[in-house]
Amino acid sequence: MNKQNLRAPELRPRVPYFSSGPCAKRPGWTLSALQDAALGRSHRSRSGKAKLAEVIDRSRAILQIPADYRIGIVPASDTGAVEMALWSLLGSRGVDVLAWESFGDGWAIDIVKQLKLADTRSLEAAYGALPDLGKVDFARDVVFTWNGTTSGVRVPDGDWIAADRAGLTICDATSAAFAMRLPWDKLDVTTWSWQKVLGGEGQHGMIVLSPRAVARLENYTPPWPMPKLFRLTAGGKLAEGVFKGETINTPSMLAVEDAIDGLLWAERIGGLDVLVARAQANLAAIERWVRRAGWVGFLATDPQHRSCTSVCLTIVDPAILKLDAAAQASVPRKITALLEAEKVAFDIDAYRDAPPGLRIWAGATVETRDLEALFPWLDWAFSSAKSEFPSAA
Ligand SMILES: Cc1ncc(COP(=O)(O)O)c(C=O)c1O
Repeated sequence: MNKQNLRAPELRPRVPYFSSGPCAKRPGWTLSALQDAALGRSHRSRSGKAKLAEVIDRSRAILQIPADYRIGIVPASDTGAVEMALWSLLGSRGVDVLAWESFGDGWAIDIVKQLKLADTRSLEAAYGALPDLGKVDFARDVVFTWNGTTSGVRVPDGDWIAADRAGLTICDATSAAFAMRLPWDKLDVTTWSWQKVLGGEGQHGMIVLSPRAVARLENYTPPWPMPKLFRLTAGGKLAEGVFKGETINTPSMLAVEDAIDGLLWAERIGGLDVLVARAQANLAAIERWVRRAGWVGFLATDPQHRSCTSVCLTIVDPAILKLDAAAQASVPRKITALLEAEKVAFDIDAYRDAPPGLRIWAGATVETRDLEALFPWLDWAFSSAKSEFPSAA
């Protein structure tokens, strides 16, 4: 096909933001959403603390987190929350860590190379698959990612997690929370950050602790030094203030205000059911287009494991698959560059460590109609990229 013959579609997505983090702001967001921010005020003032507590309370209500679970706002985004959990809790028993993409790989490396925990089993799978969940030993602590953002593979549910486990489960749920149902009875530590499904500002992490996780914190002291930023106990007791909005160090009150705005939006549209339904509807729209398009497929091999937030796609066009690896890898790069130049879609290239492809965020803040408007552009950009390879065109 000749490039000149390709007509660009007319309809454009109203919102061209499909990045997997920071993710699109909620529909209708403007800077005026932040006008009540407690700027210039101490986060330890009564109103500052009330705003921090509001984030905790609204998160609990929307996510239906049990009353006896602690929820804290912590430094350094989701990474801060996960690292805090790993450093504070691990080492009292063996660890099973599940890794099937870049973030899970990172947690495995931290556990083995930084914490140097010898009794660690890494249960791994290649991009597109899940490790064998039946091999997990719940007598040990278990570290896993609910949704692998860089491969678009998620665990289907929590049925594989033992209810009567002796170890703790530590779950990085940053691209799952608010878009996928999380079974709190199966999760002892759960983390996420604000810039994902609710489209908040990147800054702080959230950490949820089950009563069993709190008991571990109070009864076990790791042998390594604990930076102040990770300290969740004082004098052997849980630092309860952290779970009431008394943050360890200074938060951004602008980011806090934005997190509240996202939570209020989530409540307005109908809460968790609607958030999950929006993400699922977006995935369904992408599935319909993938079937129609023919040139693209899911990186996730099992449809049950397909993410409804970070949807990862690979090029499966037979003529492209005949090209050498470098040429194949250039195709998604050409597509993303074309769409960015047209201001139709930003940041939809695969993660830097993932196989070449496209990654389209489909979380709750993305409107299905914007995805529907994007699909013809993707088809157009693919045809255009393909036409640059005479042997494939
Ligand atoms: C699964 C997962 N874990 C951790 C992170 C790191 O999150 P943050 O940048 O909030 O620390 C990300 C970011 O995309 C992620 O997708």
